[in-house]
Amino acid sequence: MGLKILTEHINTQGIETFEVYRQKGGYRAVEKALKTMSPDDVVEEVKKSGLRGRGGAGFPTGMKWSFIDKKSGKPRYLVCNGDESEPGTFKDRYLMSHSPHTLVEGMIVSSYALGTNTSYIYLRGEMLYVVTILEKAIAEAYAKGFLGKNILGSGYDLDIYVQSGGGAYICGEETALLESLEGKRGNPRNKPPFPAIAGLYGCPTVVNNVESIAAVSWIVNNGGEEYAKIGIGRSTGTKLISASGHINKPGVYEIELGVPVEEFIYSDEYCGGIWKGKKMKAVVAGGSSVPILPTELILKTVNGENRLMTYESLSDGGFATGTMLGSGGFIVMDEDTCIVRNTWNFARFYHHESCGQCSPCREGTGWMEKVLHRIEYGHGTSADIDLLVSVAKKIEGNTICPLGDAAAWPVAAAIRHFRDEFEWHVKNPSQAHISGPIYRRE
Ligand code: NAI
Ligand code: SF4
Repeated sequence: MGLKILTEHINTQGIETFEVYRQKGGYRAVEKALKTMSPDDVVEEVKKSGLRGRGGAGFPTGMKWSFIDKKSGKPRYLVCNGDESEPGTFKDRYLMSHSPHTLVEGMIVSSYALGTNTSYIYLRGEMLYVVTILEKAIAEAYAKGFLGKNILGSGYDLDIYVQSGGGAYICGEETALLESLEGKRGNPRNKPPFPAIAGLYGCPTVVNNVESIAAVSWIVNNGGEEYAKIGIGRSTGTKLISASGHINKPGVYEIELGVPVEEFIYSDEYCGGIWKGKKMKAVVAGGSSVPILPTELILKTVNGENRLMTYESLSDGGFATGTMLGSGGFIVMDEDTCIVRNTWNFARFYHHESCGQCSPCREGTGWMEKVLHRIEYGHGTSADIDLLVSVAKKIEGNTICPLGDAAAWPVAAAIRHFRDEFEWHVKNPSQAHISGPIYRRE
């Protein structure tokens, strides 16, 4: 069994309560940080740990923290991004709902490091049950003196509020989230300025994913150097992976970064292999926004090396032959999956979720959905396949926020790796939209 940092006690009866969490060593990081460390000491440990943002971008957390403007004279804010709407990603809600104090403790230590006195946890609109669980945990932390005024007699004050969104995917984009938190429509802002300079209410703000914040307590307890020893190279620590699709054991797994992809898919410790004794056809490794890869490329790089569950190995070869670790939404597809239908399904999602501010995304996502629908339902032509590639190229890099890229990359990658399947749909219109096994690669 690999090392567990975030989920070590997740199956312990009562871990959602302050009492049991405390018995298991919880809130030691708060005591250590507030009693023996300065805020800068905590930032330093996080920098040494090499922790990278677990929401998807993988930006170094310590570096993000050091960008925060501490001299502006304005209040500072920490906002935890718990919006988690990426298709295939369900790790944050798992952690928050089973062990809410893991996040609350991480929030207190991280807020102390950043010098914020008010911090927010922003949750996806549909996760109302998590709001209740978190608010109960926060109330317990107040009652035990870990939140509020003069925490543990240290002179440090902190209030944490939970805010839920209205259910729009775009509110997971950090600046759209901030707009939403301010009570406005969740439209992404242009960057720069980054939130570290002008974030919530125009004040310096750090937006971090749930999992990133939760990891900070372990780093404070054990030291950044110890954390950096876990994993491989610049992919340090552990990562929660949401595994779904045609596997025997879907679920959330905490892995040490560096596990070979093949082991992750086929070993009993993790996904347990492909269901019903079938073969694997493709994998989307990091949530629906990242390029899909066929079996041969998800298991091995073009140099024949084993592909590893790390930021670097999964992206080896760029988008020609690689993908991204992203949010760790690992979707496995068996040999009977229709790639065209899957691509259309993703495209529908992005079209529906586009906020409509910029034309390439607003118009392009609609075009891609329409053309993919045509191909899937047997009305497409070969020119439509090239049209899709062209529309995807025109969106990429030309939008305010990453949703445009997220919509374009899966389409471009599906055609890059499965063009034969798109062409088969064009050549066999009467069989194109049939459920069940329709097109198998030999
Ligand atoms: P990004 O790369 O633009 O930014 C990463 C972080 O670093 C941001 O917090 C940004 O403010 C900060 N940053 C970057 N450069 C900076 C600078 N020069 N100064 C100060 N701060 C700086 O990526 P973004 O938009 O945060 O995330 C995109 C990723 O999110 C996608 O790759 C996708 O995998 C993931 N995603 C995850 C979802 C989920 O449900 N977990 C949903 C949708 C997307
Ligand atoms: Fe809105 Fe799409 Fe532009 Fe992002 S890329 S701001 S979602 S229109």
